[in-house]
Amino acid sequence: MNDTLTLTRPDDWHLHLRDEAALHSVLPYTARQFARAIVMPNLRPPVTTAAQALAYRERILAARPEGSDFQPLMTMYLTDNTPPDEIRRAKEAGVVALKLYPAGATTNSDAGVTDLRKTYPTLEAMQREGLLLLVHGEVTDPDIDVFDREAVFVDRVMTPLRAAMPELKVVFEHITTKEAAQYVTEADRFTAATLTPQHLLYNRNALFTGGLRPHYYCLPVLKREEHRQALLKAAGSGLPKFFLGTDSAPHAAPLKEASVCGAGCFTALSALELYAEAFEAIGALDKLDAFAGHHGPDFYGLPRNTGTVTLRREPWTLPSAVPFGEAQLKPLRGGDTLQWKLVA
Ligand code: DOR
Ligand code: ZN
Repeated sequence: MNDTLTLTRPDDWHLHLRDEAALHSVLPYTARQFARAIVMPNLRPPVTTAAQALAYRERILAARPEGSDFQPLMTMYLTDNTPPDEIRRAKEAGVVALKLYPAGATTNSDAGVTDLRKTYPTLEAMQREGLLLLVHGEVTDPDIDVFDREAVFVDRVMTPLRAAMPELKVVFEHITTKEAAQYVTEADRFTAATLTPQHLLYNRNALFTGGLRPHYYCLPVLKREEHRQALLKAAGSGLPKFFLGTDSAPHAAPLKEASVCGAGCFTALSALELYAEAFEAIGALDKLDAFAGHHGPDFYGLPRNTGTVTLRREPWTLPSAVPFGEAQLKPLRGGDTLQWKLVA
């Protein structure tokens, strides 16, 4: 049995860092685990311009722990009205991608896109400039069952989008279903997907074990076991189109443990450990290095990191809560013993 895992220094290709005190609280966890991260733009108000992305980048850099060389990779929030001209400014500002939130799909998505066709001139500019489109892949139609919204999105949105914009690089973020995994597997080299630790480790039973479990609630919501199995197969396939993106999404504990619970699992504290657990469970630890450190930069057209990180088989207890500004933040699996540990 392998007790030490040495990985290429990895990146997180989907992360929520928030802002101000919350940013200062959570950034050190990611900076310890990852060299770079794709930073989601769903602040209040959202990051919709290149100037806002640059200013947010400065706030993130200023919040880094002493001595950290962590690099945020900035994104902008696509709206019905993002001008095609803004894409050139985004490119010049070093923004790497725009995020598509269908309006109302998830946390802070009210300003999202109501009809993707309205954005086609902007998507064409992105295709031209080489910026990626990152997709929250759920329809928002209230008539569609919440567990079916991703599968319906594949047919209603992804398929026409790919036909209209064939050379736009698209990341289908945090996929949760066998339909999405199959779609991405069969797609050409312009389509990829990220996979979160929670969707690899849990099915929807986790939401209801012994009572309602708010810390397992994220969007897209956890699905049935057959879907989790399809995601594990994709992650362990070694296919370069699947890569790591935690979707670590901190919400203060009182907002999770409330009559209306915000969507998001906080995993930044133990992300690599959780992925190692998932890959080990399917006998695919040998595939973790490329999943965490090669496929993401290759798809984004960025250099792979140099250097390595080490995980050791060494049981440790994840804190049940950590400070979050003035509040507390409860990590997914807080209080549990994890079997893998990132060595300092
Ligand atoms: O669970 C989620 N939380 N899904 C998202 O799409 C957004 C995120 C957040 O910002 O909290
Ligand atoms: Zn997210």
